[in-house]
Amino acid sequence: MDLELSPAHQALQARARAVAEAELRPRAAEHDRLARFPEAQVRALAKAGFLQMLAPTSAGGAGLGSVAYSLVISEIAKACPSSAVTMAVTNMVGDAIAAFGNQTQQDQHIPKLADATYWAGSFALSEPGAGSDAASLKATAIKKGDRYVLNGNKCWITSGDRAGVVLVMAKTDPAAGAKGISAFLVDPNSRGFSVGRHEEKLGLRASSTVTLVLEDVEVPEECRLGPEGIGFKIAMRALDGGRIGIGSQACGVGYGALEAAIAYAAARPDLSGSQSIQWKLADAATTLDAARLLVLRAATKKDLGLPFAREASMAKLFATESANQAALAAMEVLGADGLDPQHPVERALRDVRVTTIYEGTSEIQRLVIARSVLASA
Ligand code: CAA
Repeated sequence: MDLELSPAHQALQARARAVAEAELRPRAAEHDRLARFPEAQVRALAKAGFLQMLAPTSAGGAGLGSVAYSLVISEIAKACPSSAVTMAVTNMVGDAIAAFGNQTQQDQHIPKLADATYWAGSFALSEPGAGSDAASLKATAIKKGDRYVLNGNKCWITSGDRAGVVLVMAKTDPAAGAKGISAFLVDPNSRGFSVGRHEEKLGLRASSTVTLVLEDVEVPEECRLGPEGIGFKIAMRALDGGRIGIGSQACGVGYGALEAAIAYAAARPDLSGSQSIQWKLADAATTLDAARLLVLRAATKKDLGLPFAREASMAKLFATESANQAALAAMEVLGADGLDPQHPVERALRDVRVTTIYEGTSEIQRLVIARSVLASA
């Protein structure tokens, strides 16, 4: 068992850090304050080759794998967590198209996701009445000749107003539960497709989060991703990979907060000499290292083509909870200075909060893990 990163992974991590420091960090606070979508950052991520890291080269991606992706997301998140989630969802959508799409669908979308011709890809599963219980979604896709007619509302959609393609889950057989769900690659310029409410958020304010409204949106049959009825499996598989991305994002935010707290304490002998401060730093450093190992284990299994859903849920659960605790501890080390909106720790604490909620809450991760461990009894 080798716990050291390969030279290629170390080099990629260093490159991602350099891109994050040069292109993302300088304007991250401003974008957060103005709740402004990070266009320049997305272009920089495209130029660095980070927007389609998972899709294979044959599909127009970089084919670098999940370990590489995790390392990059963490570095990006350390500097600008909003850019990291924008990048994560775009990668997740491309990964799903590569896994389930035909060559035409791959050729149509993955290169445009990779080079930011599309600002982003979006993943539209959640609805006002269907969050954690995703299979209870109500959007419908009714077949009419060689087209489907889509109706419904999707909410909390990352980059939904910026996407060049939206992966929409809707029921082709409304009576059939999870097995009645199909997936569609929807062009947001389609008639009847509109962007509703823009969410005002505590954190990740530079990432856009919107409601999408589908009113008699006609989608050609060839835009269905995979066969009818496997949309729920496509969504679940995408989320398994997505959870590695969010675990990685959380690690990055947590480490960023911890590094700021260490620098602050190191400059104040009264703090660095205090056992209560030392223990906060020690606990955060330990749990974040453990989280990173869990994330890399899940990523390694995915890269090896092994089942990884349980490991991805464990990684997401532990990393996001640990990163929240680390950011809170960092703020406590800084005391009142940590409340200053100019300080990166204040933003880290706001940005990290949602990581235990989106792409499956901590409760849902526990459910997935518990089902898996009980199934092995
Ligand atoms: N991979 C492949 N197939 C899977 C799967 C997986 N990980 N998990 C379940 N399935 C399959 C099952 O095998 C089953 O198929 P069969 O009947 O053929 O065996 C089918 O899907 C239904 O499975 P379940 O009975 O387990 O489904 P469930 O209704 O009990 O739900 C759940 C399972 C895990 C709770 C699921 O609903 C879930 O993950 N909920 C959370 C949703 C979520 O994470 N939403 C995030 C929104 S996206 C977001 O936040 C993105 C963003 O923009 C940042």
